[in-house]
Formats: sequence, C-alpha cells, structure tokens
Amino acid sequence: MKSLARKNILNIKPYDQGRPIAEVRRQYNLKEIIKLASNENPFGASVRAVSAIRKNLKYLGFYPDGNCFYLKNKLAAKLGMSLDYFVFGNGSNELIELILKAFLNEGEQVLMSKPDFLIFKLATLQEGGVPVEIPLRNFNCDLETIKGKITKKTKIIFIANPNNPVGTYVKKKSLESFLKNLPKSVIVVLDEAYYEFAKARDYPRGINYVNSKNVIVLRTFSKAYGLAGLRIGYAIARPFFINCLNKARQPFNVNYLAQVGAEAALSDNSFLKRTLDTVDKQKLYLYSELRGMKLEFIKSATNFILFNCGHDSDYIFNQLLKKGIIVRSMKNYNLDMWVRVTVGKPTENQKFIKALRKVLKRKDKK
Ligand SMILES: Cc1ncc(COP(=O)(O)O)c(C=O)c1O
Repeated sequence: MKSLARKNILNIKPYDQGRPIAEVRRQYNLKEIIKLASNENPFGASVRAVSAIRKNLKYLGFYPDGNCFYLKNKLAAKLGMSLDYFVFGNGSNELIELILKAFLNEGEQVLMSKPDFLIFKLATLQEGGVPVEIPLRNFNCDLETIKGKITKKTKIIFIANPNNPVGTYVKKKSLESFLKNLPKSVIVVLDEAYYEFAKARDYPRGINYVNSKNVIVLRTFSKAYGLAGLRIGYAIARPFFINCLNKARQPFNVNYLAQVGAEAALSDNSFLKRTLDTVDKQKLYLYSELRGMKLEFIKSATNFILFNCGHDSDYIFNQLLKKGIIVRSMKNYNLDMWVRVTVGKPTENQKFIKALRKVLKRKDKK
C-alpha cells in the first residue's frame, strides 16, 4: 500500500490539534471543562457576529461570494488599502498552504524558527519543500542566523510575529534590518495571527512593508475576533502575490457564514476592546501567580503564556486534564518541561491556577 502514497505525505507527523472539550468531558465524566489550549478568545464570538450569522441563515442554500466582496471592502477601508491587496482563506492556515502551493517548487527550501507555528513545517512537507528550522535564541526569533541560512534554494521564510508557542515578537528595528538587502528571489511571510494583542511600540506592523518588499502578511479572525470555529483569515500583499494566491485557491474557499460573521465582528469595537483589556489584565494575574509558584515564564505579546512547570509537561498536562482543564504540553516542540496556557476568563484562570498549585504540590511531595 505504501507505494500508493506520495513520499512527502508518508513522512509527515500529523498536527496535534489538542483535546476537544466534548472528548475530555466524555473521557473523565466531568461537568465543567475549561479549555485553555488553542489560544481562542475567552469570550467566544462577538454578539454582533452571532446575530449577523442568525440573520443570514436563510441564504445557506446559495454558494458564498467567492470574492468576499463586502468583507473585503470593509477591511480595505479599515486598513486604508486598495481591494487588490487582499485575499481570504479558510483560516490563515489555508493561506499558509496556498502560499506554498502558489510559490514553492519541489525541493526548494522554506526557512522558519524552531519552535514556531507547526503548520509552517507540515505544509512545507506536504508541498514537497525542504523545511530549514533555525532555533530561537533566548526564546526570540534569530533573524540574523535566518538571514545567514538563505541559499539559492531558499524561496520562503515564515515568521510568526508574535511567535507561537513562545509569545515573543520581532522588534521593528530587527525586522527592518533583516528585510534590507534580502535576495529578490525570497518571499517573507509575516504571520500576524496575534497582531491585535501585540501593543508594544516597537512591534512592527507587517503591512508597512508589503509595498516595498516581497512580504505577505497573514492575519486571522480566530483569535482577538473570536471566530475560530468559522475558519476565516486573510493575506495582505501586493496584487501580484494576491493574484497568484487567487489562482491557487478553491473558488468558494470561505463559507458564507464566515464572511458575514467576520464583517460584523470588524465593527464590534467594544467586543475587541473587552477582549484585549481582559487579556492584558489577566496576563498580569497569571504572571504574578506563576512568579508566586517560582515558575519560569516568557512574557507574551499574545493571549497565551509559555511557562516551565518544572516537571514532565505531559504529566502535568494529564493531571490538569483529569481536573477538566485543557492546556497544551510542549513536549512535541522539544520543550519537555514547558506548558502553554491560553489566557481565559478571570474565573477560568483562577481555577487553572488552583488546579496547577494542587498538581505541583502533589508531584513535589512524591
Ligand atoms: C501563529 C499562528 N498562525 C496561524 C494560525 C492559524 O489560525 P487560523 O487558521 O485559525 O486562522 C495560528 C493558530 O493557532 C497561529 O498560532
């Protein structure tokens, strides 16, 4: 049978998507499950998005607008850019795949940090590319080393800014000196899935570089806008890049409800503000509790925190799971004692901290 599959596919280790709530509830027969594993919005979706979706259910019998006309217009106006700079995807995940499909030839290299968003590597392998992983330096993207690794075979460089799973970001100055004098044959993808959370003054907005450089920016409605279940993200780049991505995609790749929900979410400023304010405050709470437990953590520009639990992270993950709290063990990122936790609602964070204290106390006694 093996000879039937493409070699690239056989060599792929499937993406670990974390444990779904319903599965954990079934397994442990628990009433309350707190999911802090996939960096979703603590408040779910905006009420405006939900109400717009309800109103539009009657159109489900039709194919969606393959051009996402209304959503594109709204976004373009909001960002002050013209319509031909945008393409939407079934999550920004799909756009990562489309970029590879559109621009990568078999055997070309794709540079990325290690660790970084796992889909960069997985999608590269799916497309027959060669991933080249450059370790983070002190938990930060090492742009100098990445630049040094560029060869004639390099086509794409993925940088999640901020990085997932670490939460650190590339600063404006470093990004600008990195982009200077890059070979014209290389495309830089700035994946800004956590853009809205990253508020530091020296955090660079990728869209400032799309006109002068071979830069494609990716953003998503899954995080700050709370629409992970709808699957919608977008790419911003010069029209040449956007045209290529349009040629590589399915004609109806973004479903109708996702378009309607995203359009409404874009106008829901109070939802966005509440989300960002809560995440900011709750991050401080979590930092202070982790500090209190003497656990090392990385300051994050996102809605998640990576911390060293001092023990085998799979063990801590499983103990928390039994208490109905789903976090992410970083063992498969080779961070054997590190756990990533999404910033949740205040009560969820308190329950997580209480459970973590119990689990660590029991482990330390053993
Ligand atoms: C850095 C990064 N990029 C992209 C994605 C994919 O987001 P989506 O496909 O939901 O838009 C994620 C999701 O966790 C992410 O962390």
